[in-house]
Amino acid sequence: MTEQPPAFGALARQRRSNLRIDPDRAVEPAILEALIATATTAPNHHRTNPWRFRIITGEGRRGLGAALAGELAEDMVGDADDPVRAAKVAKARSKYLRAPVMLAVASRTGPDPISTIENRDAVAAAIQTLLLAATEAGLASLWSTGAAVTSPAVARFCRFDPTDAVVGLIYLGWPTENLGPVERPPAEIIHIDRA
Ligand SMILES: Cc1cc2nc3c(=O)[nH]c(=O)nc-3n(C[C@H](O)[C@H](O)[C@H](O)COP(=O)(O)O)c2cc1C
Repeated sequence: MTEQPPAFGALARQRRSNLRIDPDRAVEPAILEALIATATTAPNHHRTNPWRFRIITGEGRRGLGAALAGELAEDMVGDADDPVRAAKVAKARSKYLRAPVMLAVASRTGPDPISTIENRDAVAAAIQTLLLAATEAGLASLWSTGAAVTSPAVARFCRFDPTDAVVGLIYLGWPTENLGPVERPPAEIIHIDRA
C-alpha cells in the first residue's frame, strides 16, 4: 500500500529547514521541474510571474561557491590573515556541496518601486510553495540567504540580470535524517470588528 501524503496542515508543520542531506544522491530533473511548476502557482500581482529559477548541480555547485568565495576574498584586502575571514571564505567555497541540488531563485525588478516589492513578495510565496512541495516529495530543503544574495559574482554565475533580486539559494536533496516538527509560538492575532 502506498503511503498517503499528510493533509496540508500536517505537511506544513512537517516542513523543516534541514541540511541533513545526502550530497551524493541525485534528485531526478523531472522532480525538480515539477517542484518549480508547483512554485509558480503562487499569487503574483498583475500576473508578472516575476520568478527566475536556476538549477545548480554537480560542478555547478563548486562554481557557485567559488564565485562567492572569490568575492569575499577580494573584500578581505588588508586583513587576509584574519582567521575568521579566512574561514568564511573557505566555508563559502564548499558549502554548496552539502546538497546535490542548489536552486537559485531571483525576482525581477518591476517598472516601479511597488511592483518590485510585490514581485519579491510573490517570489517568497513561490519559494515557500516549493519548500512545501519538496516536503511532500520526501525531500529535505533549506532556504538560505546571507552574503550570497547580494553578491554580484553569484548573480553573474547564475545568469541573473544585475537588476534582479536574489531571494534565496535553496538546498535540496534526499534527507539522511528527518527533523521533527517544532513548537511555534502563537501568532499575534487581533480581531477588529468595530469602526
Ligand atoms: C528569508 C530566509 C532566509 C534564510 N536564510 C538562512 C540562511 O542563510 N542560513 C540558514 O541556515 N537558514 C536560513 N533560513 C532558514 C531559517 O533559519 C529557518 O527557517 C529557521 O531556523 C526556522 O527553522 P524551520 O524552517 O525548520 O522552522 C532562512 C529562512 C528565510 C525565510
